[in-house]
Amino acid sequence: MMNHNELAQKAREAQLGSYSPYSKFRVGAALLTGDGEVVLGSNVENASYGLTICAERTAFVKAVSAGKKKFKAIAVVGDMDDFCTPCGACRQFMAEFCGNDFEIVLINSKNEIKVFSMDELLPHSFGGEQLR
Ligand code: THU
Repeated sequence: MMNHNELAQKAREAQLGSYSPYSKFRVGAALLTGDGEVVLGSNVENASYGLTICAERTAFVKAVSAGKKKFKAIAVVGDMDDFCTPCGACRQFMAEFCGNDFEIVLINSKNEIKVFSMDELLPHSFGGEQLR
């Protein structure tokens, strides 16, 4: 089983895949699946800026489209000294697949780690159970 620090180091590895010629802000995400696999994602930008996809969603789309539906944790790292917290769109995207036992693991440039739950990052979230 991966610990927080190991997963965070995988997020640093994922950062290497970043395609970010416009912002030059590289983000990496490492998503730990229910069966113990780690799926990497990075941000992928576009000349039409709004089409940019964040690292977190890249990892989820890779994993879900490969048949994974259960997740334990995601680690995220960005090109900044402070912790890189997922954007609002990514929080909603993650909430679709992750309950409150899912951990969002952030690492800063000093290798310090902060862990959040889904409910801390997205309280009062909207979910499929509210649709009829
Ligand atoms: N970005 C992510 O990939 N994840 C985050 O959590 C924050 C922002 C990306 C989007 C864009 O390519 C760059 O960082 C600057 O916003």
